[in-house]
Amino acid sequence: MKSIVIVISGRGSNMRAIVEAEPPVRVAAVISNDPGAAGLEYARARGIFAQTVNHREFASREAFDASLAAAIDAHAPDLVLLAGFMRILTDGFVQRYEGRMLNIHPSLLPSFTGLHTHRRALELGVKIHGCTVHYVTPRLDHGPIVIQAAVPVLPGDTEEILAARVLRQEHRIYPQAVRWFAEGRLALENGIVRVAGAGASQSAFPDR
Ligand code: GRF
Repeated sequence: MKSIVIVISGRGSNMRAIVEAEPPVRVAAVISNDPGAAGLEYARARGIFAQTVNHREFASREAFDASLAAAIDAHAPDLVLLAGFMRILTDGFVQRYEGRMLNIHPSLLPSFTGLHTHRRALELGVKIHGCTVHYVTPRLDHGPIVIQAAVPVLPGDTEEILAARVLRQEHRIYPQAVRWFAEGRLALENGIVRVAGAGASQSAFPDR
């Protein structure tokens, strides 16, 4: 069975959704850069190895990334999942895991890279918003797209309401991406992700 390491910074609801979907992978470890991350407690309670690599204890980004890589590599995972991980990674770190590291981003990439995606979507008046699971490349939030889900932006939406609507879809598509990986169905061809036998299911237009 393939194994994964999940890297978080906080709440860890995506990590939890992946664990509870029980894709056919072994969750070797959950690692957080913040010792206060609620997700760590959840992982420990589920009997999953959980560890902190505290970025505040390192003098440079390079030193932190080296330590994070050592913590990940100790488990020799087949895939690394960034799930609400809020640190910018060095190019060296990203290149080390190129083709075997996924991230979830709360927008329909390539729109709204970076932070505060829901606020910016509301400010610009977009009518459709969503989330994206993508491979991580050195260019922030620009890697090959595995799966996306769209949600409507509705009159009266606040940032919180919209975020919650998107988050429900994050919790569907990230486990789906992990399942595809576990089944050996993900292939990268010239920067495009093909999912063997997935048909149109790389794009999800769910009910609200
Ligand atoms: C999610 O919205 C994710 O897309 C973004 O950060 C949030 C993390 O939430 N990158 P959680 O920690 O998984 O609950």
